[in-house]
Amino acid sequence: MRLSLRFVLPLLLVLAAIAYAVSPMVDQLTLRWFVRDLDSRSALIANAIQEPLLEQLAAGRKAKTGDFFNRISQDERLFAVGYCATPDTPMLASRSLPKQITCAELARWTGPGEHLLASEQGPLHVAVHPMTSAAPADAAAVPGQLVLVHDMSFITRRSEETKRYLVYVFMALGAAVSLITVIVAQLSWRGWMAGVRALLRGEGLLRQPEINPPPSLPGFKPIARDLQRLISELESENRARDESQLTWSAETLRTILHGELRGEDVIVVSNREPYIHQRRGERIEVQRPASGLVTALEPIMRACSGTWIAHGSGSADHEVVDKNDRVAVPPENPAYHIRRVWLTPEEEAGYYYGFANEGLWPLCHIAHVRPIFRSGDWAQYIAVNRKFAQAVVSEAKTKNPIVLVQDYHFALLPKMIHEELPEATIISFWHIPWPNPESFAICPWREEILAGMLGSSIMGFHTQSHCNNFVDTVDRFLEARVDRESFNVSFGGKRTSVRRYPISIAWPPDPELLQKCVPECRRHIRELNDLPPEHKLGIGVDRLDYTKGILERFRAIERLLELKPDWIGHFTFVQIAAPTRSGIDEYQHHEAQVRTLATRINARFERRGPAPIILKIEQHAPPLVYEHFRAADLCFVSSLHDGMNLVAKEFVAARDDERGVLILSEFTGAARELPEALIVNPYDADQCAAALHLALSMPDMEQRDRMLLMRGLVAEFNVFRWAGRMLLDAATQRRHSRLTDMPGTSTL
Ligand code: F6P
Repeated sequence: MRLSLRFVLPLLLVLAAIAYAVSPMVDQLTLRWFVRDLDSRSALIANAIQEPLLEQLAAGRKAKTGDFFNRISQDERLFAVGYCATPDTPMLASRSLPKQITCAELARWTGPGEHLLASEQGPLHVAVHPMTSAAPADAAAVPGQLVLVHDMSFITRRSEETKRYLVYVFMALGAAVSLITVIVAQLSWRGWMAGVRALLRGEGLLRQPEINPPPSLPGFKPIARDLQRLISELESENRARDESQLTWSAETLRTILHGELRGEDVIVVSNREPYIHQRRGERIEVQRPASGLVTALEPIMRACSGTWIAHGSGSADHEVVDKNDRVAVPPENPAYHIRRVWLTPEEEAGYYYGFANEGLWPLCHIAHVRPIFRSGDWAQYIAVNRKFAQAVVSEAKTKNPIVLVQDYHFALLPKMIHEELPEATIISFWHIPWPNPESFAICPWREEILAGMLGSSIMGFHTQSHCNNFVDTVDRFLEARVDRESFNVSFGGKRTSVRRYPISIAWPPDPELLQKCVPECRRHIRELNDLPPEHKLGIGVDRLDYTKGILERFRAIERLLELKPDWIGHFTFVQIAAPTRSGIDEYQHHEAQVRTLATRINARFERRGPAPIILKIEQHAPPLVYEHFRAADLCFVSSLHDGMNLVAKEFVAARDDERGVLILSEFTGAARELPEALIVNPYDADQCAAALHLALSMPDMEQRDRMLLMRGLVAEFNVFRWAGRMLLDAATQRRHSRLTDMPGTSTL
């Protein structure tokens, strides 16, 4: 309202000034019109009265002429009439003729015509008309002039009236313009305010979808596009600031969820569940699986709450869920829910063991194990993906949830969710490598897999080379539009952003894992393994998977002992290998190979002291794993191909004493982030042996320098950043789609 007054008052003042300036001009104009009117009126009257006047003059009836003139001047405007025979004679006139008009005075005027005169009675119009005779013969005998005097005061009255009307008109005009302006201003102000508020809430600037779908505003189209661009720029500026200034923590992540995503519910889908309930006789034991995916996502879910949908694979899983198949976890301090999905043995065999782990796993890892593709497995893979899609739909509280789809078990799920919940933001993350197009080509259902993944809003990989491979593969096998500058793929009318999000671990690590001091860990773990106190110790922690390069690792140890026999009896490598996928032939075969090789190497060097390799094929709880990390002099990660490998980062996190050496395969995603590790090619036994020797003899200062740099990296690029970046990108996409879905706007 104040704004409207601020606008209306000046407008009214301007209009008043215009009225004031215009009125003299109007006065002049109307005066000219009226004088012209009086001129022609006088001429008319003069013509009309000339004949009777001539007759009366000719008849010498002067008294009658006076009456005649008096009668005529009773007209409202004709003030007086007079006749002058000569300049010297007195004027024959009506009574009302002003005294200053005499025949002598008329003779001094410039001649016949019209004159304006000021008199006691007011302004007068005096018209002098020469008399003419109807009979030419008498013309000389008809001298004299007729004088017609009109009252002009009515002109002044009219002018006053006109001025008054003019003021009224301008006032009415001002009021009308003000009213229209105020209404328009109020409407647009409200619209802009709503837009700005929406922007501040993180919605599209010109849209409040839940309240009022906006009408199509073609006029705003260019503005919307500019705004969109502006938002993008601001976002990228903010992102740069975020990256450099934010210390990512569980709290930061919670703030992002509540601020950027307004606390929306997050649904995670993975095959492996974070807590497995196993029956052990009378009691139920809670197990934590050996899984990089679980290691990364669990702290995220603790921070964000929400629902984690996963396969219920534990023998007591059924016993602990509610009627909706949900259980609150972590058991000691519940923060989120697991929604369990039950699979039949046939489904598990076809989808998990078959298609996912005999087909896609070796296909993507290129670890020289042939992928096996069976149509029966494919059918189960489709059916199980569909089952999980239904679970997502039933868990979604809104029509646009944020769904985090995890890994190669669910390549088809993004498309299925998108079909059911087109407004959902689906972020898929592929935890394993993506091969080059030639390697991927051998999958018989390659097009279906790619189309399924492109149901995602964002498709994430650990490294840029995996993103490149994926985009190349899509380009090769699908009719899709691939934008290599923005790394966006458009397929079937849907756009997917392909992005790199290097996964990590929680930072700082859980204090419970670091509770025991390093000397205590060194002592305890050596005792546990019957090793002397100062014995050099190496550690490897993996699932017993052929991609982890455990055989290559053992061969490197053997080579070290061949090349540097001084280490025989003074160095032992403890390999913790969690059993995995043991229903698959290849894994059984691999386990047998690992056991045989360890036995052979030990047999070869054991006689000169403790065994060089201690193989523990069993699941170890995180506190015991961390104790091993803290007790070791080196950690050896020799994956033949690995998306990231979080064991490398966990070892770094465990070493708050800033000691210990990491030997890391160049074929892991982690090698790109931790160049201070000793980077090796696991296929090169000599090189790995040299790295082992270097690690065992590395001075404390160098260990410290390397470890400090690696710890700094892991602290900064922790798992909260991994999840936070994905969620921020999801928030950005949601803002963009609100803007671009608006009628009358187009995609960037
Ligand atoms: O990190 C890759 C990954 O395949 C995860 O998807 C999985 O949770 C983990 O390794 C362990 O594998 P599995 O769940 O088959 O035991």
